[in-house]
Amino acid sequence: MLFNRTALTATRAFSTSARRETKVAVLGAGGGIGQPLSLLLKSDPLVSSLSLYDIRGAPGVAADVSHVDTASEVKGYAADQLDQALEGVKVVVIPAGVPRKPGMTRDDLFNTNASIVRDLAASVARVAPEAHILVISNPVNSTVPIVAETLKKAGVFDPRRVFGVTTLDVVRSARFVGEVTGKDPKETAITVVGGHSGPTIVPLLSQNKNAQGVKGEVYGKVVHRIQYGGDEVVKAKDGAGSATLSMAYAGAKFTNSLLRGLNGEKGVVTPTFVRSPLYEDQGIDFFSSNVELGPNGVEKIHPIGEITAEEQKLLEACLPELKKNIEKGKAFVNKA
Ligand SMILES: NC(=O)c1ccc[n+]([C@@H]2O[C@H](COP(=O)([O-])OP(=O)(O)OC[C@H]3O[C@@H](n4cnc5c(N)ncnc54)[C@H](O)[C@@H]3O)[C@@H](O)[C@H]2O)c1
Repeated sequence: MLFNRTALTATRAFSTSARRETKVAVLGAGGGIGQPLSLLLKSDPLVSSLSLYDIRGAPGVAADVSHVDTASEVKGYAADQLDQALEGVKVVVIPAGVPRKPGMTRDDLFNTNASIVRDLAASVARVAPEAHILVISNPVNSTVPIVAETLKKAGVFDPRRVFGVTTLDVVRSARFVGEVTGKDPKETAITVVGGHSGPTIVPLLSQNKNAQGVKGEVYGKVVHRIQYGGDEVVKAKDGAGSATLSMAYAGAKFTNSLLRGLNGEKGVVTPTFVRSPLYEDQGIDFFSSNVELGPNGVEKIHPIGEITAEEQKLLEACLPELKKNIEKGKAFVNKA
């Protein structure tokens, strides 16, 4: 037994020296997204340690997930153990907060979620100021500026390390365009720019050769479905919440992309909502576009590239709404 254990320790030491130790925290791990997200992160070989926190239920989720036969360690933390949960974390994923009910927009969640996200960000700033923060909690267009402003106040904001997770829009786009074109979604990857709510979600079908043929009524319908796909789930769940499983999938996918970038893999490019210079001259300083992820987080922000007149119209509808959402988030932190 002792021999085996020594052998195991030696193997671990070897494999982790080839790869970075990466501790990931999930804040809101007891929720509809948090639970399956924690499970998926437990299966990610790039995660060496998983720290699960919630105001209720995280130790139970951790005990359950910890039995999955992958190498990572899992620990659950109770409501009063946020600081311990954040110690030494490299990446913090935040799905904490309330989800939508039928008839609600994401902005309707602002009053509840703004303070949850602000307070969690303040703790990250204090305990793990160099962590990369991945915001899932809605309204993302406002919660990301809230995180940035909170970190700024604490003097630790680095724009390369704060991300709004818009991957579900990318996942839905590939799936829905795959459906209408009869292609495998792997061949219909769509860049989605703008923000993460209705009209601020701007899918650029023209940039994928398999999607370029989608025109007229079908185009209108598929774009609408991408922008309002979340409503389909909210309606079908009939008061029991919004997307959780597909969101957990999308959240784990984005986390994995970031971890690959942090580990030095080249060419990891995906849309995400970050502090961005692209529309800064119009007072819009957060924007989602293709971003190259690297050892420091955001490595390079790609311009949106060539777009059609139809896409230009979508973008024009996006920008004023996005601006309002961003300003609302900033004002919330700076009012006091
Ligand atoms: N970015 C996206 O694409 C996307 C998609 C779907 C849902 N969402 C958003 O994700 C959020 C979570 O959705 P859900 O379905 O998992 O909701 P949920 O209610 O099932 O879970 C939320 C969890 O957050 C916890 N929580 C509340 N306050 C907390 C705090 N201060 N610290 C730690 N944990 C806290 C709750 O206890 C709960 O377990 C919502 O805001 C929802 O709108 C985002």
